[in-house]
Amino acid sequence: MGRKFIVGGNWKCNGTSDEVKKIVSMLNEAEVPSQDVVEVVVSPPFVFLPMVKSQLRPDFQVAAQNCWVKKGGAFTGEVSAEMLVNLGIPWVILGHSERRALLNESNEFVGDKVAYALAQGLKVIACVGETLEQRESGSTMAVVAEQTKAIADRVSDWSNVVLAYEPVWAIGTGKVASPAQAQEVHFELRKWLQQNVGAEVADSIRIMYGGSVNGANCKELAAKPDVDGFLVGGASLKPEFIDIIKSGTVKKTA
Ligand code: PGA
Repeated sequence: MGRKFIVGGNWKCNGTSDEVKKIVSMLNEAEVPSQDVVEVVVSPPFVFLPMVKSQLRPDFQVAAQNCWVKKGGAFTGEVSAEMLVNLGIPWVILGHSERRALLNESNEFVGDKVAYALAQGLKVIACVGETLEQRESGSTMAVVAEQTKAIADRVSDWSNVVLAYEPVWAIGTGKVASPAQAQEVHFELRKWLQQNVGAEVADSIRIMYGGSVNGANCKELAAKPDVDGFLVGGASLKPEFIDIIKSGTVKKTA
């Protein structure tokens, strides 16, 4: 298949400079599979990006947690894609459910952001996922497809996009999707991409799972054929993040 496993650590709005230094040391000292086997991307808050980038081991990369939808200018409080490029930040997470829900980011707005960030040369982790209510009403795939369509309508080159399927009900709740539930949505999402974007993109795009991934549940999830990595929140601040990175080696023996 040739999809390299990718593990992202989304630190969200957490950390002091001392805490960030500790996490970086923990990562720098860790023994992990080579970057040819597992790609690692950590995403500190904006203010810590330069510090983390300068102190972090070179085989791990950094991501911003968001960026502005177009060129910078009179947009108080925003950070532009150009600024990230200028600082040498290669990745950005866009469309996280916390931003969709709390900051009212619509599918179209997220699609515009993804297209703009890609055009500036950033790599994008684009998040999609349904709420509990949507799952229970049977509309999981319709919701995920609609979110993905808003990206597909604006993007033609998918080579710098990784999708993160993150069911909202699993984020920060300790209620992880079962490996079968994750696999089912990843499979359906890949099928949607095949039908609506193209077979090559569907086959090559990496789909991460996110939502209460931890050191104990990661191995079983990682073994599922359409799970190509993880986007990790809470556990990315803890030593068990290393175990999550290591879980990517199951693909080699699968
Ligand atoms: P969680 O967050 O691992 O704390 O559930 C995942 C995410 O929001 O990316």
